[in-house]
Amino acid sequence: MKEIRVAIIGTGAISNRHMKVWENIPQVQVVAAAEIDQKRLDNWSLRYGVKDVYTDFRKMLERDDIDAVDVCVHNNLHAPICMAVMKAGKHCYCEKPMSASYFDSKLMYDCAKKCNVKFAVQISSLFTEQTRTARRLIEEGQLGEIYHARSVIANYRRRPSMDGPFNGGTPDFMRAAMAGRGQIIDTGIYHLGQMLYLLGLPELKCVFGKSYHKIASSVPGRAVEVEDMCVGLAEFEHGFTLDIQEANACNADVPPMSYITGNKGGLIYWNIDEVGGDWSMGQGPAKLMPEHMRHGMRFTGECQGIHVDCDLKTYYNQMQNRCYNPDMMTWYDNQMHWYKYLIDELTEETRYHTPEIALQASLLADGIFLSQQEGRSVTAEEIKEKSQSLAIWHQETPWGIFDYDSQI
Ligand SMILES: NC(=O)c1ccc[n+]([C@@H]2O[C@H](COP(=O)([O-])OP(=O)(O)OC[C@H]3O[C@@H](n4cnc5c(N)ncnc54)[C@H](O)[C@@H]3O)[C@@H](O)[C@H]2O)c1
Repeated sequence: MKEIRVAIIGTGAISNRHMKVWENIPQVQVVAAAEIDQKRLDNWSLRYGVKDVYTDFRKMLERDDIDAVDVCVHNNLHAPICMAVMKAGKHCYCEKPMSASYFDSKLMYDCAKKCNVKFAVQISSLFTEQTRTARRLIEEGQLGEIYHARSVIANYRRRPSMDGPFNGGTPDFMRAAMAGRGQIIDTGIYHLGQMLYLLGLPELKCVFGKSYHKIASSVPGRAVEVEDMCVGLAEFEHGFTLDIQEANACNADVPPMSYITGNKGGLIYWNIDEVGGDWSMGQGPAKLMPEHMRHGMRFTGECQGIHVDCDLKTYYNQMQNRCYNPDMMTWYDNQMHWYKYLIDELTEETRYHTPEIALQASLLADGIFLSQQEGRSVTAEEIKEKSQSLAIWHQETPWGIFDYDSQI
């Protein structure tokens, strides 16, 4: 199968999970990396044996022997760096979230189209048997007419870099200048992205919402600059509604549990993938995720005239499929999916349109903040019109100021 030469930008925490996945795809060679922190770059280069390293990614992009770039920097650098990658004519894979605002996500989306490159955004919750089975049941009409859905997670204390045992992330997650927003675009994208995909990417009509920033920092001397909770009620075309609760710190502890209800049946699903998939967690085909992480789903409703309430072991099906058909990794891993898209095994029709899904999730998230600002429900047109860039277009680095071009 065709070889692809990939470069990485940003060799921080998430790049290590991406590397675990690349190691499972022998046709992908990671040939170069760029990072502004010299010490981190040197350690990373030693760890993975990648010798061609750069402190200025723009020099790396000048090479013509790099096919594609995996962007692993923090949120507010996604738009500037992905756009530079795409304008250099390289295919681009972006870690989630696409960006912190609809405005920036739209720039990225349009840039990919204009540069005619293959662009994907990491949304691992799509790449599970839970999502495949739910989509199949919906397409087969098992739920009937869908009229409401709920996307909910309320964690007591689970802020990255703050609340043990989830404090592994960098403090940038809590900084407005770098993260842009909090939970709604952090693990929220996994819940919203999956929900929007399952519902067939319906057109948003309007949103009413509020964000809260109420729970004190748990690290002395370090501020929390982004929201800890968002709630919202969105209406889509055909009057269908979705209510959203996303909290990474609040005084309730409810595991992620989304549901979709139709007039014939409904699906409740839990343990939505928020970690980047099995490979990124080092899970081989014969190794099950710990119980509390196994994706689950329940169908409730009528099936062939009988009222049922039954659990679907989607995670076991995923493991079975992986054991007996390794090709299924195309549908169980983000990076494998992108690779298959790069080598033309997936087309625009067959691939998951992750940039489109992430763009619609950005619209919804921005709507919550705009609604709060206006004190009323806001329409999709207003959100598009009023959304602003939160990205970093002038970055101070140890190597001088990096100026990014915001024109597509
Ligand atoms: N999927 C998950 O569960 C998960 C977990 C952690 C992080 N993330 C996402 O991954 C992204 C990165 O987070 P992280 O925790 O790896 O952050 P990090 O700070 O550990 O890594 C980012 C790296 O980018 C480098 N960088 C900044 N500007 C650069 C530039 N101009 N050129 C090259 N390198 C540059 C930084 O020096 C840093 O080393 C975030 O968007 C975050 O949301 C996802």
